[in-house]
Amino acid sequence: MRSSQQIQSKRNPLVVGNWKMNGSRAEINHLIPKIIEGTADLKNIEVVVCPPFVYLETVLKKIAAADTSIEGVSANLGIGAQNCYCEKSGAFTGEISSGMLNDSGCRWVILGHSERRALFGETDALIAKKCQSAYDADLIPILCVGETLEQRKSGKTFEWIGSQIEVILKIVSLEVWNRLVVAYEPIWAIGTGITATPEEAEEVHIFLRECINKVYPNRGQSVRILYGGSVKAENAMGFFAKDNIDGALVGGASLIAEEFVNICKLCSKAKV
Ligand code: PGA
Repeated sequence: MRSSQQIQSKRNPLVVGNWKMNGSRAEINHLIPKIIEGTADLKNIEVVVCPPFVYLETVLKKIAAADTSIEGVSANLGIGAQNCYCEKSGAFTGEISSGMLNDSGCRWVILGHSERRALFGETDALIAKKCQSAYDADLIPILCVGETLEQRKSGKTFEWIGSQIEVILKIVSLEVWNRLVVAYEPIWAIGTGITATPEEAEEVHIFLRECINKVYPNRGQSVRILYGGSVKAENAMGFFAKDNIDGALVGGASLIAEEFVNICKLCSKAKV
């Protein structure tokens, strides 16, 4: 029993860059080789970048090229998308399926980001279906949850996050939790320069593990949970030093090569 718990609680640290609707071919040509060179030696963590759909292939090609062109460097960089739809194919103009992402060489997908919830009306039920479909297509879903400033100020943080994760737990199957990553992103910390304190984040991460454990005993200990919201190299170590924070989902700072690489290095150092 003890040993199976130990295996379950081994969580590989992870840093994910969410480029949002930013980037261009020129920027990718500049950014990707620098990220590859800077992170190639960090073998104890996983590093992923999530460019806009139209640049997935450009980034993939850049990674393939770097693997052969930079001497002694083998890329330690995964590719993710920022969204997908829950149906396999059909009349869903403008949408991209999880199977298409897999087919295009993508291995990760961010789902339920607060910007998609707020600006595009995504509900927990839809996000849960997307998580299931991403899992079924062999992708790793990165599920985002988080509270507004009002909710935090009125003491509703845990109730809200509990309700978000509860819907996902009801709809997705048990196996999905073997692979799914959760990102706790307080909405008031996204793009604002204000972060939760590492203690506030740790408290939510522990709570999320408890919510998962209530439905699937012990499973909460093995799910990777990232913190996101204004993570920069100057504040990242405080988060990585916490036992229940397994890495970061990084927005703005992931568009600056040196900053992103430094965040990855700090994660690698903290989680040895
Ligand atoms: P930020 O964004 O790091 O720019 O705050 C994080 C996110 O939205 O994933």
